[in-house]
Amino acid sequence: MVQKYDCTHCGHTTTITLPSSILFNLFVGISGIAVFIYGCLKNKAFFILLSSDILSTLAAVFLGFLFTLYVFGSSIVSIIAFLDKPVPEEILKKIFTAAQLAPSNCNVQPWQVYVVSGSQKDALKDKLTEALMSGNPPNPDFDWGIRYEGIHRDRQFESANVLYGSMGIERSDKESRMTALIRNWTFFDAPHVLFFTMEKYLNIMGAVDMGIYAQTLTLLMSEKGIGRCFQGALGQFPDPVKAFLNIPDGRGILFGMSFGYADEKAVVNTARTGRVPIDTSVVFSG
Ligand SMILES: Cc1cc2nc3c(=O)[nH]c(=O)nc-3n(C[C@H](O)[C@H](O)[C@H](O)COP(=O)(O)O)c2cc1C
Repeated sequence: MVQKYDCTHCGHTTTITLPSSILFNLFVGISGIAVFIYGCLKNKAFFILLSSDILSTLAAVFLGFLFTLYVFGSSIVSIIAFLDKPVPEEILKKIFTAAQLAPSNCNVQPWQVYVVSGSQKDALKDKLTEALMSGNPPNPDFDWGIRYEGIHRDRQFESANVLYGSMGIERSDKESRMTALIRNWTFFDAPHVLFFTMEKYLNIMGAVDMGIYAQTLTLLMSEKGIGRCFQGALGQFPDPVKAFLNIPDGRGILFGMSFGYADEKAVVNTARTGRVPIDTSVVFSG
């Protein structure tokens, strides 16, 4: 079932799909409560007969709500506030093993990814923020210098407004925006950061494969309740990262990603961007 809700930040209407099992549980629950009331009104014997069913019905409703919480709690929106709780190594190994099955053109599997955690991550954070504060301009390995036009520019502005709106930052407040932006290079205090790299010569063909791999990886993560934020920002100052991780010269950092368990209490994690309706993006023919 598709349901609409109005995004409180951007005012856009977003559609969400309710899994049918939740609806089923709710249906069973509401029917059960109706039968319960009917039984009470009619006579006590009927009520006693039904009471065990009522319990199982209430249990079904409870499970339905738990399932709802699970589905929405592990949704795949960007997360930028994390708990100080590393993901256990065996879970990481399982996720990365499954992500190896991502498809790629001619099965070339161009992804070379670096996961940095713990004290190594903190040391890298210091190197990156040093590079950022040095005042040198970004020198990404790939062409990130795009200037969005038309509707793309509108959507870019809107997503920034949603994000900064969730932090209570006005459009005119450049200083607070900059402070929020800098959090990209401190990995939003996530317990892990990941760099997606590939051979530079692969260009657009490699980038397509990398995107598919990255989304496969993060869907697997969300299944395990792990949140993440993709970050083009982490490809902007590649030199200190490449030196720190011994990444060969022929290879480039396409983008990065901070990840870990979401801080459910953080208001910034409630920012919700809208999506255009499918008839804007999809043509069904035939
Ligand atoms: C390739 C890519 C690069 C991104 N770079 C950044 C970034 O540098 N910093 C950031 O905060 N979000 C970044 N994002 C997150 C997007 O802004 C976000 O996915 C988009 O606004 C939609 O919001 P949602 O992920 O919450 O649905 C990036 C996303 C992608 C796919």
